[in-house]
Amino acid sequence: MLEKIKKTADFILSKTTRKPRIAIILGTGLGGLANEISNQEVIPYKDIPDFPVSTVMGHKGQLILGRLSGQDVVAMQGRFHFYEGYTMQELTFPIRVMKFLGVELLILSNASGGLNPQFGIGDCMFIRDHINLMGTNPLLGRNYDELGPRFPDMKEVYDHTLIEKAIAIATREGIRYQQGVYAAVTGPTFETPSEYHYLRVLGADAVGMSTVPEAIIARHMNMSLFAISVITDLGVHGKIVEVSHEDVIKAASASEPHMTLIIKEMLENF
Ligand code: HPA
Repeated sequence: MLEKIKKTADFILSKTTRKPRIAIILGTGLGGLANEISNQEVIPYKDIPDFPVSTVMGHKGQLILGRLSGQDVVAMQGRFHFYEGYTMQELTFPIRVMKFLGVELLILSNASGGLNPQFGIGDCMFIRDHINLMGTNPLLGRNYDELGPRFPDMKEVYDHTLIEKAIAIATREGIRYQQGVYAAVTGPTFETPSEYHYLRVLGADAVGMSTVPEAIIARHMNMSLFAISVITDLGVHGKIVEVSHEDVIKAASASEPHMTLIIKEMLENF
C-alpha cells in the first residue's frame, strides 16, 4: 500500500510545480469553488494511477492544482462514496496520497439532510464532530504504523480553532451558519421519517453519505481537518418532503458561494 501511495503521489508531483499544504474536497453540487482557483493544472482522475473514478452526477472527477487565497492548493472536484461500490480503502486512497503530496490541512465539504429543527435549507453547518454509522471503518485490517497509530484518538477530529475562525468569517459576512454533529450513513437511499427521527435521537444534527471515511483517514495521519456541510433538505418532523438527487444538487449549488467565501477567507492566513 505504501508503495502504491508513493507512486501515485510522485505521478501527481511530476505533473505540477505546486507544493500544496492544503487540500479541498468538493462535495455534491459544491464544485464551483474550483473556478476560484487560479493558474490551474487539471489532472483527470482517469489519468492518475490507482485513483478511483467518480460515477455520481454532480461530481466531475478531476484534480485541480493551483492558487487560492495566496496558497498552493489541490482540490478534488468530485469525491468517492461507499455506495458506489468502492471499498473503504479505495475511496480514501486519495486522502493518503494528499498526505504524501505534503498536505497538512484537509477541507471537506458535503451536502446533507438537516435533523436539527433550528436548521434551514441552505445553511452552512460547520462539523464539530461525527457519528460513524456506515457499519464499517476505513482503518479495518492491517495498520501501517508509518502512516498512523493502530488506535487513533478521535477526541477532536475537526479542528476547533478553524471552526472558531469560520464562525468569525460567517458573522462578519452575514452568512447564516450552524455547527453540529454529522452522522454518516451508507445511503444510497435517503432516510425514512423514522430513520431521520432515530438519527436525531442519537445526537446528530445532519445526515449524509460521505466525509467520515476521509475524516478518519486524515485523523489517522494527523492532518488538520475542517468540514462544512450544506443543508440541502430537512429530515425534521413536519418538514419532510420528497427529495431527489437533483434537489440536493440545486440546494447545494445555491449555497455554494457562501461556502466558497468562508473557505477562501479561512485560507488567507493559514
Ligand atoms: N440524507 C442523507 N444524505 C443526504 C441527505 C439526506 O437527507 N441530503 C443530502 N445528502
